[in-house]
Amino acid sequence: MSIARSEYTYCAPTIPTKLRVVRDGDAVRTAAPGELPAVVGAGLRVPTLTGEVEYANLDHAASTPSLVSVKAAVDTALQTYSSVHRGNGYASRVTSAWYEQARVEVGRFVGAREDDLVVFTRNTTDSTNLLARSLPRGTEVFVFETEHHSTLLPWQQARGVQVTTLPVPSSIEHALEDLASALAASVASHRLVVVAGASNVTGELWPLADVVAVAQRHRARVLVDAAQLAPHRAIDLAASGIDYVAFSGHKLYAPFGAGVLAGRRDWLDSSAPYLRGGGATARVSTDGVAWATGAARHEGGSPNVIGAIAVAAACASISAHREAIEAHEASLAERLRSGLDVIPGVDTWSIFGDDHDRVAVLAFTIERFDSSLVSAILSAEHGIGVRDGKFCAHILVDELLEDPWGDTPATAVRVSLGLANTAEHVDRLVAAVAELAANGPARRYTRTDEGWVADGDERDLSLPLPW
Ligand SMILES: Cc1ncc(COP(=O)(O)O)c(C=O)c1O
Repeated sequence: MSIARSEYTYCAPTIPTKLRVVRDGDAVRTAAPGELPAVVGAGLRVPTLTGEVEYANLDHAASTPSLVSVKAAVDTALQTYSSVHRGNGYASRVTSAWYEQARVEVGRFVGAREDDLVVFTRNTTDSTNLLARSLPRGTEVFVFETEHHSTLLPWQQARGVQVTTLPVPSSIEHALEDLASALAASVASHRLVVVAGASNVTGELWPLADVVAVAQRHRARVLVDAAQLAPHRAIDLAASGIDYVAFSGHKLYAPFGAGVLAGRRDWLDSSAPYLRGGGATARVSTDGVAWATGAARHEGGSPNVIGAIAVAAACASISAHREAIEAHEASLAERLRSGLDVIPGVDTWSIFGDDHDRVAVLAFTIERFDSSLVSAILSAEHGIGVRDGKFCAHILVDELLEDPWGDTPATAVRVSLGLANTAEHVDRLVAAVAELAANGPARRYTRTDEGWVADGDERDLSLPLPW
């Protein structure tokens, strides 16, 4: 086999000095300090059964809208859009430099240590699967049943890896005790504790400092699934001692398609490349392959450069407006909780207790109402978008709800708040839930193959194609 030189020489992801991007602090601000960054699609109007209202998107935990600053960064990057690490043309070198600068921005966002890797993935699920495949043989993984399936399941198929699943805890103290005794009983050569920063069902925050302390006492590493934490709270790998963090761009005000795994380099450098192919190699000859080390090892194929730039732009904006975002969400979350708390027949759900610190995510049920009917009514009658079901956390939701009303499925409605929300959205939701709990829906609803449908629902869902 003969291989041309250009095919086997991997262009190391260094940033050419002349093309290094100098970041202007104000460029990432689409709002003045103290104000909130704007989102694309704010003010969207949607049809209801009786008219039209501003859309109340109360489903940020599923996917957030994009920031205006992210859209601007993507538009700019598309002007010089070209190959990454595969060309010497000017546009290619600019794109390569921006791709690597995106890595630096994300590293800054998570407080990465100097030697940490920032790997661009597709999403959190991809990140946890990448780490699962990178664990040294003989690793024991400790994971709570509270976790999202994307954080609970990847370890089970990993070769040479043992999984210890810890039950849904009744309190933080029990969680830490269970974790400490499981770690103490472990004889594995490597240990990894996997925990969410914030629950995607209840929004409750795990006490990461305590988890890290317990893990470190037993020489275990910690992966934090920050899918629901990163949009709301700062993460600092270096200061906290967290070893790895995973999150998704589409929950962080960037569009779909890019996620991140950041953390310790050694396991990632020693494992098989995630995708075998171009970009992941240092050298290929007829005698064999030397795989690249660093992030490139696990970013085989042409990378999602626009996705990475979008994630970086989101990280920059969120960091620049952190205080304003937290204050906005805290006030809306308090408004929501206090509004729902006083409605007879409505329950809100917690793992660790009602007063536990949480991000602006809340799960509730209305006595004797199927949650999918509730979300259909909120949409049809009030122009509100929420999610219902078990939120890819079946074990946790089954444990929390435990078949409360016999014939009603053990599912909940989840409200998750963010930058697209106003106090009016929250008030509309609370008023709608109060009305529903007291008097039922305004129309008769029938369950169909496509879910619950209201009598006389003539909303037109067929918009012109966007292309
Ligand atoms: C806590 C948590 N972890 C992981 C995931 C998976 O994220 P993704 O679908 O972007 O891979 C989600 C998605 O909802 C989540 O909420």
